[in-house]
Amino acid sequence: MNKVYIETYGCQMNVYDTEIVKSILQKNNYSFTDKPEDAEIIFLNTCSVRENAHQKVHQRINVLKQLRRQKKDLLMGVLGCMAQNLRQELLEDKVGVDIIAGPDSYKKLPQIISNVYNTGEKEFELTLSEFETYSDVFPTHEASVNAWIAVMRGCDNFCTFCVVPYTRGRERSRDPQNIVEEVKQLADSGFKQITLLGQNVNSYQFKKYDFADLIEKVSEVNSIERIRFTSPHPKDFPAKLIDVVANNEKACKHIHLPLQAGNDRILEMMNRTYTQKEFLDLVDVMRDKIPKLVLTTDIIVGFPTETDEDYKDTLKVIENVEFDSAFMFKYSERKNTIAQRKFKDDVPEDVKTFRMVQLVEKQRNIGYKKNQQHLGETFSVLIEGQAKKPTQMMGRNDGNKIVVFPENGKKVSEFVNVKINEVTPNTLIGDLVK
Ligand code: 5AD
Ligand code: SF4
Repeated sequence: MNKVYIETYGCQMNVYDTEIVKSILQKNNYSFTDKPEDAEIIFLNTCSVRENAHQKVHQRINVLKQLRRQKKDLLMGVLGCMAQNLRQELLEDKVGVDIIAGPDSYKKLPQIISNVYNTGEKEFELTLSEFETYSDVFPTHEASVNAWIAVMRGCDNFCTFCVVPYTRGRERSRDPQNIVEEVKQLADSGFKQITLLGQNVNSYQFKKYDFADLIEKVSEVNSIERIRFTSPHPKDFPAKLIDVVANNEKACKHIHLPLQAGNDRILEMMNRTYTQKEFLDLVDVMRDKIPKLVLTTDIIVGFPTETDEDYKDTLKVIENVEFDSAFMFKYSERKNTIAQRKFKDDVPEDVKTFRMVQLVEKQRNIGYKKNQQHLGETFSVLIEGQAKKPTQMMGRNDGNKIVVFPENGKKVSEFVNVKINEVTPNTLIGDLVK
């Protein structure tokens, strides 16, 4: 039985895909190890959304290649989003890996591996499919409190900065019946929370079922108590979906709503298909219907041609909306994207850094202020594990905020009530109450 070691980079979809790959390989009698030096096959499941992720994988390949000196027949493979970009480099033998397989090729992995063993030749399989959803492969879930479930794959939005439509191909949604089956299995094995996953999750559409219908459908599965989803696009939030988040008891009152930029000219160049005003109006509708809503976002600074004035519009939206937290990124030019082909990456690195540092600082203060409003409140918390201090545990409230409290004999996967008596910008701290 060949032992496989897999290292995963990037987003949750990649974590999920690694579970898919494991399930496929397990059925073909492969076993797994968490030590690269014990493996006969090493896979890196890669991300290429920003340049630093890309570089990290290159460095890691170089380190792992050293293991070949001790083990001549060690196979190395690159999976996931970088596969597409690596094709040329592989052909020129710059990378020195044996297998390259894109995100729609995982069912072929057993065949690919045996071809490489039989012929000694490198193999690559990068075809993107319009149909592959891995519906018939139930991933091997690591024991945990939350289970991720990919409900759609790919993206058709073509935001101009984003490489995802090229590395993961066209949007396709899974049959809701099949998703419900997976959720039932997860519930039977003890999961209480699921997160519906997709590159553009709220554009989910399977025949007459839209994303709001899907949430309603999975919420009927007994013993699943919390439903989350990520990542949505602001363009796919009809009233029906907001109402389901507002009214379905299992739907968590947390929405991650990527803004990306606050300036209309930049938003248009990004092809985000909304204006600042439309975004702010959407936030108003959401907050009106879901009073305790926790809102988080993604921001890119230093998109081509972004001036100080343009950037200040982003700052202004951050100040107006007061997101609970935000992921901030410096624009990173990606090969073959529309932005790379049409615009020059002309904002200097130190300007990007300045804007990002300023935004992070601003958001930290806002996050702190928002958390202070929770002082004295009591939350139902789903326990995820030990906190940093050994006598404390941590979990999340409905709004996805981290809550820390004394252990007191409580166990992972239990729900407890915690009254908040102290906060930091990122954490709520409190005591157990009835
Ligand atoms: N440069 C910087 N950030 C990017 N993101 C996606 N592509 C890029 C890029 N080329 C960010 C977006 C997206 C998040 C997942 O990553 O903010 O929402
Ligand atoms: Fe990329 Fe935009 Fe699709 Fe998100 S919605 S994956 S940012 S193209």
